[in-house]
Amino acid sequence: MTAETLINVGDYHRVARERLPRMVYDYYAGGAWDELTLGWNERAYDRLELRYRVLRDVVDRDPSAVVLGRRVSMPILIAPTAFHGMAHADGERATAAAAGATGTVMIASTLSNRPIEEIVAATNGDVWFQLYVYKDRAISKGLVERARDAGCSALVVTVDVPGLGRRERDVRNRFQLPEELGLGNLASDLDGLPEELSGSALAAYVGSTFDPSLTWEDLGWLRSLSDLPVVVKGVIHPDDARLAAENGAGAVFVSNHGGRQLDTAPATLDALPEIVEAVDGGIEVYVDGGVRRGTDVVKALALGADAVAVGRPILWGLAVDGRVGVEQVLEILRTELDAAMAMCGVTRVDQITADLVSRTSLR
Ligand code: FNR
Ligand code: LAC
Repeated sequence: MTAETLINVGDYHRVARERLPRMVYDYYAGGAWDELTLGWNERAYDRLELRYRVLRDVVDRDPSAVVLGRRVSMPILIAPTAFHGMAHADGERATAAAAGATGTVMIASTLSNRPIEEIVAATNGDVWFQLYVYKDRAISKGLVERARDAGCSALVVTVDVPGLGRRERDVRNRFQLPEELGLGNLASDLDGLPEELSGSALAAYVGSTFDPSLTWEDLGWLRSLSDLPVVVKGVIHPDDARLAAENGAGAVFVSNHGGRQLDTAPATLDALPEIVEAVDGGIEVYVDGGVRRGTDVVKALALGADAVAVGRPILWGLAVDGRVGVEQVLEILRTELDAAMAMCGVTRVDQITADLVSRTSLR
């Protein structure tokens, strides 16, 4: 399968679905309960139209952006997703290398199969570390220190997992990590847990180790562990975005975990405008969930996001062709973004303004 025959993210999704074992595909693709939010994330983009402008000299275009003070080649980051080793033998190393080659940021999950040190060493680009806070705070402290020492440039604390959302596909498949894969950052593994109760070994793991007692006060503790900026990921309510800013977050991620946590949470694109208004330029705002086309990126930026992140598209690229596949998916999105900018009459991302979008009356 070559880049000529796979020309968009949907093509990568289709081929990845054919190639991956059912249990792995379902874990990557699935969402919580009825998977309504999962579908809404994507469809929210289809309800917006682009009111493009013309005759504006769009010869010299630059789709680059700045996140947390660093320039990236495009406002498209790699969202943290667990267990890249199930998609490709090189796992997170391949993803990191592709991010570096493309000039964007990889956010590496706490639940990677490779250790964070190996992930950072595999790329010349920026890696941010996504943190889950464990009941045993010493584990989280250790992870933060390792991420800092390895050279990560930000911490992304995910706050929408007080327990794992019930992904019924994983329950039916009795999801577990393939035997040869472990948790690269942690001493423990997924096995040996009471999966009988939950159906999914991951749900059992999260239930017994993640800390649901976390509050806004703990953000101060997290910030005290290193000098790294802290990004709060998993915010849907504007009051929470305000609290994130008040509690010293460097940025907020509008995210519903790709529809994998609370089903019927709003589509992230719908939650975005209120959050942008709430933080009022005080901190950066990113959004993830359902971004599959360059036009989606234009729409998110028009509604006030500083950048978007993609989760599943990266996993599809990885499953199809490892590092090369991830690079191709990122290049496709960048090329589409660049073309959409030209046709919208803008040459830089800061020219993408709210007047470019309108809500369709047709669908
Ligand atoms: C995720 N997500 C996630 N988020 C996080 O903070 N830590 C993690 O370990 C994971 N793991 C994970 C695994 C898989 C398979 C998926 C699909 C998602 C959520 C992720 O960061 C992001 O919010 C969504 O994936 C964005 O939606 P799209 O782009 O997949 O639609
Ligand atoms: C997930 C967790 C690991 O969504 O974040 O599967």
